[in-house]
Amino acid sequence: METYDKKAAELIERSYQTPEIVHQRLRTLAALSLASGESVLDAGCGTGLLLELEALAVGTGGRAEGVDFSDDMLAHARARCGGLEQVNLQQGSVETMPFEDASFDALSCTQTLLYVKDMDKALNEFYRLLKPRGRLAIIETDWSGAIINSEDQVLTRKIFDAWGRAVVNPNLPRRLRPVLGQIGFSALRVEAIPVLNASYSKSSFSANMLQNFATTARKLDAISEAESEAWLDGVERLVQKDEYFFCVNRFLFSAVK
Ligand SMILES: C[S@@+](CC[C@H](N)C(=O)[O-])C[C@H]1O[C@@H](n2cnc3c(N)ncnc32)[C@H](O)[C@@H]1O
Repeated sequence: METYDKKAAELIERSYQTPEIVHQRLRTLAALSLASGESVLDAGCGTGLLLELEALAVGTGGRAEGVDFSDDMLAHARARCGGLEQVNLQQGSVETMPFEDASFDALSCTQTLLYVKDMDKALNEFYRLLKPRGRLAIIETDWSGAIINSEDQVLTRKIFDAWGRAVVNPNLPRRLRPVLGQIGFSALRVEAIPVLNASYSKSSFSANMLQNFATTARKLDAISEAESEAWLDGVERLVQKDEYFFCVNRFLFSAVK
């Protein structure tokens, strides 16, 4: 599993508050249809951005639980959700969570399954924890479909391929729907949510990720240091010419137990 340390937590804080990811979060929240007084679990809650919205939706008469592996991510979640008495946070793996069967009306898991070693175990855990007719919402990304305008598309492909390889479960969206069906989930729905930056903005999701794409490819020896610098410089030249373009799809899976 990739470790979400202090630095990674800060990058998530920045890049996940960009308008594209806020939009994705609101779509996820809508898919859960939370009502006042309900119980909700955010599995792999990270810095608590979605959990905070879920907590506000269920209100003080409800319950919003967050579980995450990383103490550094949870530190942000604690600061964010500190004033919400209906929120409870704990460190742990989404593969085995310390709750009774059928504890939750709704469960979310966003951008987390890609890191989970035993994904089937986690999905079965989600099924166990939901009440009958409980709602599930999962967000995942397939980086093999990422597009960025660059001066060297071969190098770009190497960088995105390395980015995809850096996780335990790459390309999950293309295989997740039947897996959910086999576990017993019904009313399966899959929607694409584009993260589209058709022009450059410093506060966009991709602008926040550019350096990280290159660094990860470098760490995995997919590209050299010189190639990393050349790629970033090339993108910068396109920014100057107003020819920046980036797009990747997030996929929202919703289902009912
Ligand atoms: C990209 S972040 C997403 C955070 C949050 N879900 C969001 O969308 O804002 C991935 C998170 O998954 C957590 N994670 C990865 N594997 C995990 C596991 N097996 N159990 C619990 N959390 C895990 C990481 O610590 C990190 O906080």
